[in-house]
Amino acid sequence: MINAEVKLTDDVVMRPVARSDARALADAYRRNRDFLRPWEPRRPADFFTTAGQAARLERLAEDRAAGFVMPWVLTDGDRVVGRMNLNSIIRGAAQSASLGYWVDAAYNGRGLATKAVLEACRAADEDLSLHRVEAGTLPHNKASQAVLRKAGFEEYGMAPRAVSIDGEWQDHVLFQRILNDRPAPM
Ligand SMILES: CC(C)(COP(=O)(O)OP(=O)(O)OC[C@H]1O[C@@H](n2cnc3c(N)ncnc32)[C@H](O)[C@@H]1OP(=O)(O)O)[C@@H](O)C(=O)NCCC(=O)NCCS
Repeated sequence: MINAEVKLTDDVVMRPVARSDARALADAYRRNRDFLRPWEPRRPADFFTTAGQAARLERLAEDRAAGFVMPWVLTDGDRVVGRMNLNSIIRGAAQSASLGYWVDAAYNGRGLATKAVLEACRAADEDLSLHRVEAGTLPHNKASQAVLRKAGFEEYGMAPRAVSIDGEWQDHVLFQRILNDRPAPM
């Protein structure tokens, strides 16, 4: 199920990222470089190249095989138009993961992020047997906060100077969604 392609709209699907996505990912990051800059860590020059993305996809495939991450892309034909990641998957008493995402500037405002967050939460619950998904946003990222609230997340706190975004240590507003009441595995 987790490897299935999920149709988000007539044009856009969400599917696990593949090694063959390197070129389309580099294209998407170059198209969205100015749009994403205020919301992301500083990127080295090779991040915007096919070779740089290919190297990152290799490491990501290893991390996925180890159960640490679940990475998806949103695609419209050959074009990558967004990403969704369950990062930092923790087992034991937490059964938790941290959500990260973006949607191509040209595809904003169509409900894509909300649909993709809902699908990531479904997969976290039903396919990965997690209990909780967390996400953090910059205090002024009202669009991302709207997405999380629409997808059933609640705000539970603020971590001061917690993340390096656009080269500055910035505050993170913390959200979580509890997925189910299944007992934790023993
Ligand atoms: C945040 C982001 C993922 C939203 O993607 P999207 O596909 O446009 O999201 P959706 O269409 O599902 O929902 C966006 C919601 O934000 C609202 N919104 C947009 N700009 C807003 C603003 N400035 N203030 C308040 N709400 C805003 C929209 O009205 C919409 O809510 P609605 O459906 O109730 O009207 C996208 O803008 C993005 O990638 N931003 C840069 C990267 C980023 O911030 N990633 C998340 C890091 S936590």
